Amino acid sequence: MSERRMVVAIDGPAASGKSSTAQWVADRLRFLHVDSGALYRAATALALRELGAADTWDEIRVLELASDVTLVPGTTSFEPRLRGASAEDEIRGADVTKCVSRVAQMPAVRRWVNEQVRRAAVGHSVVVDGRDIGTVVFPDADLKIFLVADPWERARRRLTQRLGRRPADTEIAEETERLVQRDAKDATQTVQARDAVLLDTTYLTQAEQVERIVALARAVERGGSRGPSPAGDA
Ligand code: CDP
Repeated sequence: MSERRMVVAIDGPAASGKSSTAQWVADRLRFLHVDSGALYRAATALALRELGAADTWDEIRVLELASDVTLVPGTTSFEPRLRGASAEDEIRGADVTKCVSRVAQMPAVRRWVNEQVRRAAVGHSVVVDGRDIGTVVFPDADLKIFLVADPWERARRRLTQRLGRRPADTEIAEETERLVQRDAKDATQTVQARDAVLLDTTYLTQAEQVERIVALARAVERGGSRGPSPAGDA
């Protein structure tokens, strides 16, 4: 591995497996994982605690609350802390998931997240996942991946992870509806960079998609080209 600091950007729609894939890729490459969505979720969790009904939230108040979020480096990833405390279950909960797109549409909050993420990457090689990492946050990233998968399959995977069992078709249908609605709300910020590698994971196992990204990152690290795209370069 070279000493040069590298940035791998992984973007894609809701529940496309970005975060778990990014963490796994980071572990394989011995990079640190930065989950930009976790910062939007952390700001949303504080807004839910303090500001009452989401339709009354004001950008300035949310930004003030966001200053209580710190991004703390661990051995393999950065973790957001809310007023110094870990809040993983809270930030992944249904209430936060329902309201996070509203917070993610606030330009001042987006600037705040981008600053936290860029600061985390100083002095580290990182794998960063989100919606706009390859376009806005790190337009010069060494490798950009855009992960997509069929909505039904994304819903099935997310529910299996959440419930710890095989979900029924009716449950998958409801979750698909929620995902499609969140995709629509997030559409403006979910942008595939022109130089991103499009990876459709509908028929891939997670191990396979991780292997493909690790192989692409190693090729870039060696100074080579990315080689043929797994599913066609954008
Ligand atoms: O994992 P999932 O796709 O459910 O979402 P996430 O990555 O945890 O992100 C949560 C929310 O944050 C998304 O629904 C977007 O509204 C927002 N987000 C964003 O706007 N830009 C990013 N770079 C990352 C997340």
